[in-house]
Amino acid sequence: MKFLLLRRKIEAEAEHLALSGNDRKAEPIWFTIGRMLANRKWTLILVAKDRNDLIGYISISFAKFRKMRSNAYLVLSVRSDHQNKGIGTKLIQDAEKLAHARGTRRIELEVFAKNTGAHKLFKRLGYEEEGRKRKIAQIGNEFDDLILMAKFL
Ligand SMILES: CC(C)(COP(=O)(O)OP(=O)(O)OC[C@H]1O[C@@H](n2cnc3c(N)ncnc32)[C@H](O)[C@@H]1OP(=O)(O)O)[C@@H](O)C(=O)NCCC(=O)NCCS
Repeated sequence: MKFLLLRRKIEAEAEHLALSGNDRKAEPIWFTIGRMLANRKWTLILVAKDRNDLIGYISISFAKFRKMRSNAYLVLSVRSDHQNKGIGTKLIQDAEKLAHARGTRRIELEVFAKNTGAHKLFKRLGYEEEGRKRKIAQIGNEFDDLILMAKFL
């Protein structure tokens, strides 16, 4: 439950996520929990804590299908009041170690082009651009591309 509250808080404040504001409210909480339980074999969530507060998380979704088993997909978020302290970097590094131990050899993630801070961070950690979904998101009158990035472990 604490994790769901953290995720909702980050989504409400983050500028560059696919979800914004209260988008998630359209989904009833019991549905979210049910989906998480159904996927628990395929998804690992690591959280960063400051005393008892959750301040960030990374989810690692492992591919379900046999041929794709060496792949995993990351989603990373850190609360705005705890950014730029190395927490995101540490979460990615820990996720990579865990994923590697489970047989993952290729990790992918997606980042909006206007999210220059996150894009730079992923590049610094060795993620390379593989493609773009152009003008996929609309914010007011402006459009943004979604960049697909991956790294081989
Ligand atoms: C993207 C995001 C996860 C980065 O998390 P973070 O904890 O701020 O990341 P870090 O602190 O590890 O790195 C950010 C910068 O701080 C710098 N930094 C790292 N440790 C630091 C420290 N101890 N002190 C000061 N700065 C530090 C890093 O060098 C990095 O800069 P660089 O990428 O220009 O080299 C965070 O901004 C976020 O959650 N944004 C909203 C959601 C989002 O956009 N998610 C990504 C899409 S999947």
